[in-house]
Amino acid sequence: EMKIHHVGYYVQDIKKARNIFSMMGFDEESEEIYDEERGINVLFLTNGENRIELIEKCTEESDVDFIAKGKRSMPYHICYEVNNMEESVDFLKQNRFIVIKKPSNAIAIQNRKVAFLYCKECGLIELVEK
Ligand code: NI
Repeated sequence: EMKIHHVGYYVQDIKKARNIFSMMGFDEESEEIYDEERGINVLFLTNGENRIELIEKCTEESDVDFIAKGKRSMPYHICYEVNNMEESVDFLKQNRFIVIKKPSNAIAIQNRKVAFLYCKECGLIELVEK
């Protein structure tokens, strides 16, 4: 089972972006969190059942460098919630996906295990373990 947990947005300025999403009806789900390991600031917003993650690069070398080069704010991943990280990664690897970032704990999301995978047909996805 893979349900959408959030859409990840790369943004240039998390506070300015938050104001725009606030105007569109999104509320902050939690505080902004600095993820030192990944070199990013993260803020989760919700609007009813929809959740988005604002991600701002905050060091010279960060996990979003590959997307930040374009400098434009844009959604760049969809995150799916899975019951078992290892099984899901194995399953996807058998089905055309390659692992971009191995499973690791993410401070911005209650230290839950996350991983990034890619396939040509659907682009970049993130998995978060329940
Ligand atoms: Ni995400």
